[in-house]
Amino acid sequence: MSADVPVTEIGAPPFATRAGVRRMLGAVVAAPSVRNTRPWRLRRVDDATMELYADLDRLLFVTDPTGRGLGISCGAALFNLRLAVRMTGHDALVSVLPDPAERPDLLATVRAVPGAPPRADERLLHEMIPRRRTHRLPFDGQPPPRTVFVEMVHAAHAEGATLVLVTGRTARRVLDLAPGSGRFEADPRLAALFTQGDGPRDWLRAGQALERVLLTATARGVSASLSARPLGLRAPQHRGDRVGPFGHVQMLARFGYGPPVRRVPPRSVIETREARHG
Ligand SMILES: Cc1cc2nc3c(=O)[nH]c(=O)nc-3n(C[C@H](O)[C@H](O)[C@H](O)COP(=O)(O)O)c2cc1C
Repeated sequence: MSADVPVTEIGAPPFATRAGVRRMLGAVVAAPSVRNTRPWRLRRVDDATMELYADLDRLLFVTDPTGRGLGISCGAALFNLRLAVRMTGHDALVSVLPDPAERPDLLATVRAVPGAPPRADERLLHEMIPRRRTHRLPFDGQPPPRTVFVEMVHAAHAEGATLVLVTGRTARRVLDLAPGSGRFEADPRLAALFTQGDGPRDWLRAGQALERVLLTATARGVSASLSARPLGLRAPQHRGDRVGPFGHVQMLARFGYGPPVRRVPPRSVIETREARHG
């Protein structure tokens, strides 16, 4: 995960070609984002380097004053970018927040170095990027197999986060606390995503873990309904009292089977600005 590794290009094609950049952009814009704000920008630095920036014009000042939702969204986009890089047969060397003092909006530098061909599991997750959707209605009540949850737990762990399954009465109580989480099935299969810390780096980690979990679920035909609201409304100084053995909870997600969901068009900048006050 260091940016200091030299880029050797012995016989390897440059990865940031015009088609390659289009593929990366496609992967990035398909990531889930808080209120569909898509608060990121991608910059091609040279043939081997891309930069991911936070688009602070798209920060939701009222509902996301600390930028936590923005950070998680950009983390999800970063995971997709990493996958898109892997599809070119390069490894993605990621430097997270490389210059926090001078350029806090520069969230990650991604350098491509020649690597092994993409593995089957990486190809599968990459294929799932355009198919993943956020569901909002109750699921049909059929619980996803335990093996899928085991895979999702591993997916979160691989990104340095912890996914904990919550079921039964506890799940219903947690969901009842969540304003705007709407209706849900009688026996919800809920999972909470945790990170050890609760700062910008952790939010980026949570986002990468979230997207890996969601793509893993999608690959198994399992849908997810997200809710960050009960967590995001608390001021950062009060969030410390929520630290448990798993760390800080960053996201709640219900998993199940539901009807197909259409792709949501991106909000325009004007809608995004209005959403700040909504
Ligand atoms: C940090 C974050 C917080 C989110 N919070 C919620 C939420 O509270 N309720 C909800 O229904 N969806 C939530 N979402 C899902 C977004 O609304 C969704 O990703 C966006 O509308 C784009 O739709 P898509 O995921 O189907 O591409 C959240 C997503 C992210 C990344």
